[in-house]
Amino acid sequence: MQIFHNLEEWRAFRRALPLDISLGFAPTMGNLHVGHASLFAASRQENDRTVTSLFVNPTQFNQATDFSHYPRTLKEDLKLLTQAGVDYCLLPDEKEIYADNYCYQVQENSHSQLMEGQHRPGHFTGVLTVVMKLLNLTKPHRAYFGEKDYQQLQLIRDMVRAFFMDVEIKACPTIRETSSLAYSSRNNRLSKEQRLIADQFARIFHQADLSVKQLLTELNKIDLVVDYLEEHQGRRFIAVKIGDIRLIDNYALPGKIY
Ligand code: PAJ
Repeated sequence: MQIFHNLEEWRAFRRALPLDISLGFAPTMGNLHVGHASLFAASRQENDRTVTSLFVNPTQFNQATDFSHYPRTLKEDLKLLTQAGVDYCLLPDEKEIYADNYCYQVQENSHSQLMEGQHRPGHFTGVLTVVMKLLNLTKPHRAYFGEKDYQQLQLIRDMVRAFFMDVEIKACPTIRETSSLAYSSRNNRLSKEQRLIADQFARIFHQADLSVKQLLTELNKIDLVVDYLEEHQGRRFIAVKIGDIRLIDNYALPGKIY
C-alpha cells in the first residue's frame, strides 16, 4: 500500500494515473473495524484500485472532548488496510486540509437540521465540507459510505447531486455484532458495564415490531439517555448516550418501501 502524507504529492500521483483505471474511495476517521473493511471490500470488487483516507476531521466534532478522545490507532489501521488490499492511503494533516482556516464551508439548510444535525450543531457542515475536499482530491469514480451513518450518506448523495459532481455514491449495509450492536469506533471507549448496556440497547432497538412508544418504555429501563428516536421515510433512527459515549443506529422498517 502506498501512503501519502503530503497532498501535493498525492495530487501529482492522481493526475498520472491512467484514465482507464477505475478508482474507488472510502474515507474514514481511522480506528478501523470490520464495518470499514466492508467498504474497502465493496470498492475492491467494483474498481481497479481503492484509495482511503484516515483523517479525524476536527470540524465535525461539536465537542472538543469527543474530538480529543477519538481513538487514534494508526499502526493497527495500516495493518488492516494492507490486509484489506487497499492500494493507497491518504494521511493528510489538518493544516493542509484546512489551509483556508475553514473559511469555505459546504452548508445544507434542510435535512441537515434534523436528528444528528439538531443535536450536534455544525456537525454536517463539517462532514460535507471535508467530504467535498476529499472527493475533489481523490477524484474517484465511486465513493463508498456506510448505512450506519444514514443521514450522512443521504446528505452526501444530495450534495453530489446538487453540485453536479462526477462520482457515484455507493451505500454499504451496516455490519453488526451478534447482539445487533453496530460496529463503531466509539464502542472501544465503552467500559465492560457500558458494553453490556450497549448490547441491551441494540437488542431492544432492533425489535422492529415494537412501536416508538414501546421502545422508549423498554429503553427507559436501562442506564442510558435517548437523544432522539424518530422515523423518517420508512426508517427508524436513534441516538443514545451511555455515560459520555454517544451511539447512533438506524434500520429500514419492514414492509415500508421508499
Ligand atoms: P467513520 O466514522 O470513520 O466512518 C467511515 C465510514 O465507515 C462511513 O461511511 C461509515 O458510515 C462507515 N461505517 C462505520 N461503521 C460501520 C458499520 N458498522 N457498518 C458499515 N459501515 C460503517 O463517517 C465518518 O468516518 C466521517 O464522517 C467521514 C465520512 C470520514 C468524514 O470525515
